[in-house]
Amino acid sequence: MNIIPKPKSTQEYKGEFLLNSTTRIIVNLKEGPLLETAEYFAERVKLATGYELWISDNTFDHKENIIFFNLDDENTKFGKEGYSLEVRPTNITIRANTSSGIFYGVQSLLQLFPVQIYGNHANAGMKWSVPSVQIEDAPKYPWRGMHLDVCRHFYPKEFIKKYIDLLALHKMNVFHWHLTEDQGWRIEIMNYPQLTEIGAWRVDRSGIIWNERKIQQPGETADYGGFYTQQDILEIVDYAAKRCILVVPEIELPGHALAALAAYPEYSCTGGPFDVATGGYWPIVDVFCPGNENTFTFLEGILDEVMTLFPGEYIHIGGDEVNKANWGKCPKCQQRIIAEGLNDENELQSYFIKRIEKFVSSKGKKLIGWDEILEGGIPPEATIMSWRGIGGGIEAAKQNHDVIMSPTDYCYFDYYQGTPSSEPDAFPDSLLLLEKVYEYNPTPPDLTPAEKAHILGGQGNVWTEYMPTSDQVEYMVLPRMSALAEAVWSSGAEKDFHEFYERLNVHCRRLDELKVNYRPTD
Ligand code: ACM
Ligand code: ZN
Repeated sequence: MNIIPKPKSTQEYKGEFLLNSTTRIIVNLKEGPLLETAEYFAERVKLATGYELWISDNTFDHKENIIFFNLDDENTKFGKEGYSLEVRPTNITIRANTSSGIFYGVQSLLQLFPVQIYGNHANAGMKWSVPSVQIEDAPKYPWRGMHLDVCRHFYPKEFIKKYIDLLALHKMNVFHWHLTEDQGWRIEIMNYPQLTEIGAWRVDRSGIIWNERKIQQPGETADYGGFYTQQDILEIVDYAAKRCILVVPEIELPGHALAALAAYPEYSCTGGPFDVATGGYWPIVDVFCPGNENTFTFLEGILDEVMTLFPGEYIHIGGDEVNKANWGKCPKCQQRIIAEGLNDENELQSYFIKRIEKFVSSKGKKLIGWDEILEGGIPPEATIMSWRGIGGGIEAAKQNHDVIMSPTDYCYFDYYQGTPSSEPDAFPDSLLLLEKVYEYNPTPPDLTPAEKAHILGGQGNVWTEYMPTSDQVEYMVLPRMSALAEAVWSSGAEKDFHEFYERLNVHCRRLDELKVNYRPTD
């Protein structure tokens, strides 16, 4: 058994199930997500084997050679995402009480086949055998996330789908889509078309070290970048939903907003003008002006469209790394500080986030922010994403806030994964080895049980300053995501890196079939 992430319990039996052209898929409900999951499985089988399996909700006269998908929503023993998978020489049965559970059962089933099941060659002459086994499984955490920054470099829609497929392969269930930045605005907003007409494009300084790039010069053309149309977004959200993945959009404020300000400089403190950053932009001084009422009208207009496009309950608003120097000099910001009785610019940032949080929750959504939003006071309903270590996450959990852990030390996949001299360029002076990711435990040991319950899970972050191509993203993400998947799905009671490593060798052959440019294991 080489399943990643490792299931809770696995019992092996003698014999094997052989899939052939007459194997039937029988669902106990021929509609909705259960049917879609059956179709998803049948599509993968067709690509690899050439067989077009029948999907039915009726056993007819067949008693054997069946793969049953049994959704029983009265049977709550599996939890929201758990499943059982029973393989016998006669039949295979996946049971769960949600369609997500069935989907994860399918992921495990696929990993029991020869690795060629992930290929697209319609292999003739392959023996499609599955060993007899009984698996009981459920995830450790409800939040198993992967983030992707599509702003430092833009990746086409097709790659986003491949990325989502890779999450699904690992039973990850959240795609945190970082859509706005100093270096590019990537989401079409109908009411503010210049966000993408201007904000999605920068001058191309490829080949020059990220932090040494000159800003845009007079006469230069900004033609490097791209964006996702609202149609693209809907397509991606639907694609992800069929794979049990929630897409969480991130719209950065008050900082990391230079691309938006290049398009609409009137919402800054100074009025601009600005150009979209061509590379490193630091410190982040040009940010939204919270002294100006119109800034909130603008941001709420954007968020309105975003919340319509993304049906999930979470909206990430960033909140990290704001330099407040301009707020200190801006008459409108200083007026706001006085009018609201605030002590300083930190509390002004808090005012900003709390006001946005009120708006977001008035629409029935939940706000997530990076741990900086704790400074100056956190809005009551906010969820914290802890990245500067785990201190912010601990503090938030103690204040009864939900927390997602993504500390740089364990979860930043833009860090080098080996000796820098033998690796492609990555974040300077960084290192995050596979072993370390594997050992990660998102729950800090000193929390009380009630505080621990606020730790929703963990997430890998993929900042793409040093990833100009999607091939490079794949190289940085895998196999570290395989290790993280196990850290957030598997119970972790008996972690054994060497045993994981053996499974990973087989898993890498799956990645070969999927044509993923993963980093070879040492
Ligand atoms: C971050 O890495 N600035 C959240
Ligand atoms: Zn201002």
